[in-house]
Amino acid sequence: MLKVENLNVHYGVIHAIKNVSFDVNEGEIVALIGANGAGKTSIMHAISGLVKASGGVISFLDENITSSPAHKIIAKKLAQVPEGRRIFSQLSVQDNLEMGAYLRTDNKINEDLDKVYKRFPRLKERKNQLAGTLSGGEQQMLAMGRALMSKPKLLLLDEPSMGLSPILVNEIFSIIQEINREDGVTVLLVEQNANKALSIANRAYVLETGNITVSGDAKDVAENPKVREAYLG
Ligand SMILES: Nc1ncnc2c1ncn2[C@@H]1O[C@H](COP(=O)(O)OP(=O)(O)OP(=O)(O)O)[C@@H](O)[C@H]1O
Ligand SMILES: [Mg+2]
Repeated sequence: MLKVENLNVHYGVIHAIKNVSFDVNEGEIVALIGANGAGKTSIMHAISGLVKASGGVISFLDENITSSPAHKIIAKKLAQVPEGRRIFSQLSVQDNLEMGAYLRTDNKINEDLDKVYKRFPRLKERKNQLAGTLSGGEQQMLAMGRALMSKPKLLLLDEPSMGLSPILVNEIFSIIQEINREDGVTVLLVEQNANKALSIANRAYVLETGNITVSGDAKDVAENPKVREAYLG
């Protein structure tokens, strides 16, 4: 579904992503794990069109999207939940969710709003509350719900567990599995919480200072001694 070939990203003279190649098949959850500054967000932003690749090719559903602008990529049903959530804090929960559907022209938007409220009952209880007053976990749910309102085929999640308590982390990860299994959404998951990410992923890639150093089935990656030492404690 997604194919990244020899991706490079530069920020001025900083070479943040160095010839990175990986792919995501339809129906999978693929985890991209790595330490602070490894380049995880840079890869996500290159895919969603927020950062320009300085080399390489990104294809989505057999179409080259390397130089496509972000709004065209969203229209192709590839949605990103950015690091730090980036919800509209001055809008209500419901308005945030409706913003997620702004590119849709079909008449199923209300149906999908009901589906999101079923998936996230806490959001339903708070639909008229200003998004900026939600707790961290609720804001993560809202950011995920808003992305789901665009009816994505591929969902990019950048550190959904960041700053959440262990109980909420478990809740968010079960919801990611439900979205994948029940709604058929393919997921590319970026995480520093390697344990959790590897426990729900089919396959995984380990990123170190802009290079992929380990890849394989999530189970094998979790058992890799180098990975255990560096990321799993
Ligand atoms: N806009 C930018 N300008 C200059 N350097 C940048 C920019 N964005 C990222 N970088 C650098 O690129 C490298 C990779 O950053 P990136 O945000 O992709 O890492 P990350 O793996 O997502 O880290 P974290 O886990 O902390 O979110 C870092 O060294 C960072 O300082
Ligand atoms: Mg990041």
